[in-house]
Amino acid sequence: MGEGLKPASDAPHIDKGLDDIYVKETSICFVDGVRGRLLYRGYDIRDLAQYSTFEETVYLLIHGELPTKEELEKAMRGLAEEREISPDVVKLLRCMPADAPPIDVLRTTVSYLSNLDSERDDPTRAANMRKAQRLIGKFPTIVAAHHRIREGKRILQPDPELGHAEDFLRMLTGKQPDPLSARVMDVALILHADHSMNASAFAGIVAASTLADLYSGIVAAIATLKGPLHGGANEAALRTMLAIGKPERAEQYVLDTLRAHGKIFGFGHRVYRTYDPRALILREYSRQLSELKGQQDLFRVSEIMQETTVRELKAKQVYPNVDFYSGLVYHLLGLPTDLFTPTFAVSRVAGWAAHINEYWQDNRLVRPLDYYVGPTEAVYVPLEQRG
Ligand SMILES: CC(C)(COP(=O)(O)OP(=O)(O)OC[C@H]1O[C@@H](n2cnc3c(N)ncnc32)[C@H](O)[C@@H]1OP(=O)(O)O)[C@@H](O)C(=O)NCCC(=O)NCCS
Repeated sequence: MGEGLKPASDAPHIDKGLDDIYVKETSICFVDGVRGRLLYRGYDIRDLAQYSTFEETVYLLIHGELPTKEELEKAMRGLAEEREISPDVVKLLRCMPADAPPIDVLRTTVSYLSNLDSERDDPTRAANMRKAQRLIGKFPTIVAAHHRIREGKRILQPDPELGHAEDFLRMLTGKQPDPLSARVMDVALILHADHSMNASAFAGIVAASTLADLYSGIVAAIATLKGPLHGGANEAALRTMLAIGKPERAEQYVLDTLRAHGKIFGFGHRVYRTYDPRALILREYSRQLSELKGQQDLFRVSEIMQETTVRELKAKQVYPNVDFYSGLVYHLLGLPTDLFTPTFAVSRVAGWAAHINEYWQDNRLVRPLDYYVGPTEAVYVPLEQRG
């Protein structure tokens, strides 16, 4: 501590993680951590997962209400058209180093895309709605095209006749997905599309609050999603399941990890103190997929991990979160592990755009304070006189 510091009694309360700080009002998304409910615009995620599609959910998040039949058809056509990426973008993807993490490639490409958008600097709400649609449309194609390039395979053009999720899987794998796989991807995209004021949405808002353009806000959000404390937990959960390998080893693994005060990835949540409703939905789909793909052992591992962890940590209110099952689901769908976070972004871009557009309706520059604890009377010594 240097001289000239304020006495400790003057020190303000510091909210390092902003845990209990509200930064805006919203009507986009509500997480009820006590009752285990998640609502988009008032609609229960369980109903959306059962009856909706990603395209309809995007419309709901961005426009604030469910579309009519005609509005949905128009929105689906619009999104399908926006899936196309230009030769310039493909050229950029081909320039990426062979070992570039796909989430970094997505971040760089979205940044580049802004230069190709003639409406980039148009700040009107209507233009920002169109830019949101453009971004949501292009994410799956960017992720899929880059993946095919790094595998030395031919890039597949988007098929506007297919749904967003189904086309994403097709462009990635090169095969028409079976109906269950297409539906599971659709549901996974619905479930990940928003989750209130999470770190990436907040990063997007901080950038947007300076009145930088939508692309800048989305790039900031992708950069923030990358970290293992946010978008990366599903990878760790899957790696654990694969390492356990056999169902008969799962219970002992959990007991040993907890005894050593280790974390079981895919469990616990800052807001949910009960089952994450998204986890329950994906659990059932991972059961169905594991049967379809003949990988019941892996599902059995997840079941025993789940039973054991919930039993052992009941007093601490630790339950499975969405990441425990999304990793398993993506693996069963044939996605390599490093595509899990980009796939999360393919969905979450809808929530980011909705939050940024909402924030701009009553914008205020985000500019918090930090409490200075450094010296205040440092004397500058010219370089040649320093030791
Ligand atoms: C998500 C997470 C950071 C939430 O943290 P939090 O709300 O701050 O809760 P805490 O870390 O304080 O946990 C409370 C208690 O439960 C325990 N706990 C929480 N999650 C646990 C887990 N996944 N495995 C083992 N113990 C866990 C903690 O060790 C702590 O025990 P203690 O009181 O004896 O110290 C935490 O649950 C976690 O690290 N989970 C694993 C990573 C993960 O799945 N992340 C994705 C979240 S969507």
